[in-house]
Amino acid sequence: MSEALAHLALYGLGTMGSALALNILDNGFALHVANRTASVTEGFRSEAAASGLDGRLSVHGSLADLARDMPAPRAIILMVPAGDPVDAAIAELIPLLSPADAIIDAGNSDFHDTRRRTGTVEGAGLTYIGMGVSGGEDGARHGPSIMVGGTPAAYAGIRPMIETIAAKFEGAPCAAHLGPDGAGHFVKTVHNGIEYADMQLIAEIYGLFRYGAGKSPAEIGAIFAEWDKGALKSYLVEITSKVLTATDRETGKPAVDVILDRAGQKGTGRWTVIEALTMGQSASAIEAAVGARGWSAEKEARMAGEAILGGVRGPLALTHGDAEQALLAARIIAYAQGFRILAAASETYGWALDFARIAEIWRAGCIIRSALLDDISAAFRSDMPHGQLIFAPAFAKRLQATIPALRRVTAAAIAAGHPVPALSASLGFIDTMAQARGTTDLVQAQRDFFGRHGFERIGGAAGSHGPWWD
Ligand SMILES: NC(=O)c1ccc[n+]([C@@H]2O[C@H](COP(=O)([O-])OP(=O)(O)OC[C@H]3O[C@@H](n4cnc5c(N)ncnc54)[C@H](OP(=O)(O)O)[C@@H]3O)[C@@H](O)[C@H]2O)c1
Repeated sequence: MSEALAHLALYGLGTMGSALALNILDNGFALHVANRTASVTEGFRSEAAASGLDGRLSVHGSLADLARDMPAPRAIILMVPAGDPVDAAIAELIPLLSPADAIIDAGNSDFHDTRRRTGTVEGAGLTYIGMGVSGGEDGARHGPSIMVGGTPAAYAGIRPMIETIAAKFEGAPCAAHLGPDGAGHFVKTVHNGIEYADMQLIAEIYGLFRYGAGKSPAEIGAIFAEWDKGALKSYLVEITSKVLTATDRETGKPAVDVILDRAGQKGTGRWTVIEALTMGQSASAIEAAVGARGWSAEKEARMAGEAILGGVRGPLALTHGDAEQALLAARIIAYAQGFRILAAASETYGWALDFARIAEIWRAGCIIRSALLDDISAAFRSDMPHGQLIFAPAFAKRLQATIPALRRVTAAAIAAGHPVPALSASLGFIDTMAQARGTTDLVQAQRDFFGRHGFERIGGAAGSHGPWWD
């Protein structure tokens, strides 16, 4: 693709695609669009016209028509579900495009697929960009956070458009080229992993207030609204307060009370954990959140479990201050674990990810945007012992101040029978990292005992064996 901005197209006018298309048009760019179902394309044309945005819009009947009829050079954004639909669109496009053209996958693709597709598309002489877009429908419409993977030259071609449509934090675009091929999609995946953890942590604190302290959803919503003015300020805390104070129109009950407690997931949280484990990492808070969604799906089993095991949730004397500090500590740990996965991937794949920049582009537009991210980017730009966010002076100080509350809240919750898998997993990580000597000496001894695996003797040789082999 040339450095001049190519003619733009977008295929897939669902929730995200249509919002992103309106954003692009709204920002003065001409756009060609198509969708699998023609009626949806027509609906989009009407929506754009109603907003006075159809002047620069060209509508096509199919992906092939779009590729054939629009002028080159072409940059075609795909906004279709991850997986086969992306491969099918690429296979259809390759014979129709020419070397100056680019295909941009803006969905939540698995970064392994993006790496593979980069090889296929670039092998055919075209440009491929894997682009993570965060912010949901509203973000896509008014400014998402955009994480780009591809060659620097490919990014140069779309940068003016990307930076224009992206969210702005104090005037700076929340978009960046993060590395080659799958880097953008990987960072987006980890963003979602952190999102899973943050949501679960918030839900656990809600549960303690609700089922331990006996507060109503509206009362808890008011607490979250208050927290949104302080260190916990964030999109997720803000929407939690709105959700908890909302009333169901049909029944007049709190909206949250008419929702089945069975959570869905599309894969990015799970992928975060899988990739972490593959690289020898453990993002315990994220794992706990993914696991909690999985367990939540077993509604019938949990209903039986309550009867068989006699599930009891005792009363809790929970102070607002302790709960706030506990959530803050756990949120810091969840972010830190996310960045540890990014660091491992950066090393594994040779991406040289810029962690400060990643924190910066998450400060606006995306789902995990929060007041903490500004401090996180500052921490990554200064001294950080062992590259660990939890050891950066500003965060170590914050953790020292908040961990006691996390410990009190988690201990009280566990003692009273409240499930807090993510809060306790966060604490388990920090307590492990705060001990110079742990207990894996015994694990090593066991491994040597049953499998002659050997161990490293303190101050001595690796491959030593215990007296059980004498
Ligand atoms: N929703 C979010 O908050 C969010 C946030 C960030 C990223 N994403 C990602 O963005 C992508 C799109 O998500 P969405 O929420 O916009 O989905 P959506 O509302 O379900 O829309 C899906 C779009 O893809 C098209 N499509 C589905 N299957 C197709 C196929 N086999 N071949 C061609 N087109 C197909 C649909 O066309 P028809 O009209 O013909 O059905 C529709 O235009 C996904 O990768 C998603 O993970 C979503």
